[in-house]
Amino acid sequence: MQRILIIESSPREAESASRRLTAKLRTRLRVLYPNAEITERDLAKDPLPHLDYRTVKAIFTRDQTEAESLQEALRLSDQVTEEVLSADLLVIASPMWNFGLPSSLKAWVDHIVRPGKTFRYTADGAEGLAREKKAILVLASGGVFTQGPWKSWDTEEPYLRLILGFIGITDVQTVRAQGMNIPGLSDQAIPDGEKSIESLVI
Ligand SMILES: Cc1cc2nc3c(=O)[nH]c(=O)nc-3n(C[C@H](O)[C@H](O)[C@H](O)COP(=O)(O)O)c2cc1C
Repeated sequence: MQRILIIESSPREAESASRRLTAKLRTRLRVLYPNAEITERDLAKDPLPHLDYRTVKAIFTRDQTEAESLQEALRLSDQVTEEVLSADLLVIASPMWNFGLPSSLKAWVDHIVRPGKTFRYTADGAEGLAREKKAILVLASGGVFTQGPWKSWDTEEPYLRLILGFIGITDVQTVRAQGMNIPGLSDQAIPDGEKSIESLVI
C-alpha cells in the first residue's frame, strides 16, 4: 500500500461521528503502512463546485480543438480524478443526509466519474478503469440501516458501492457509526464502529 486517499464530507468537525471513525482508521493505517502517502480531501472545508456548462462540455466533447480550449475548466476535475487513480486505497467518510449522500460528496462523484479516465464504454458495455484498488466506506447515521425496518431506506451505501463498482472498484468494506440519534444506541455507536475498524482486512 503506497497511496491512500481519505475523503471527508461531514461539516460537523469535532462532533462528527464519521470523522471520529476516520481518525481511528487513519491511526490504524499509519501503523500498518508507515511509509504510505496519505492525501486528504475535505469536501466540507473545501467543497468542489457542481459541474457547470463548461466543465460538462469539456468532459464530454469529442472535438479536439474544443477540448483544448476548455482545458482550464477541467483543472479541478482532473486533479480529484488523478487523486483517485493514483490511490491504492480510498477511504470515503460520509454522514447520511436524507437517506443518502450529502451533496458535497455527490459533487465529488460527478467530478471523478470520467469517461476515458475512470471508465470507458466498450462494445460489451461500460468498463471501470480504476482497477486494483480497495475502498472503505465510513458511514454515520442517526438511524440503523444494516437491519430492521429502515434497511431499504439506505440509498447511501448501495449508491457508493454501485458507483465505485462502475469505475472498477469492487473490493469495498464498510464501517458504521449508526443509531447516533437513537437513545440507548447512540452511546455505543462510535465504540462499535471503532471496534469494527480493527477487523477490516486492509
Ligand atoms: C441535514 C441532515 C440530514 C440527516 N438525515 C438523516 C437521515 O436521513 N437518516 C438518518 O438516519 N440520519 C440522518 N441525519 C443524522 C446524521 O446522519 C447523523 O447525525 C450522523 O451522525 C451524521 O454524521 P456525522 O456525525 O459524521 O456528521 C441527518 C442529519 C442532518 C444534519
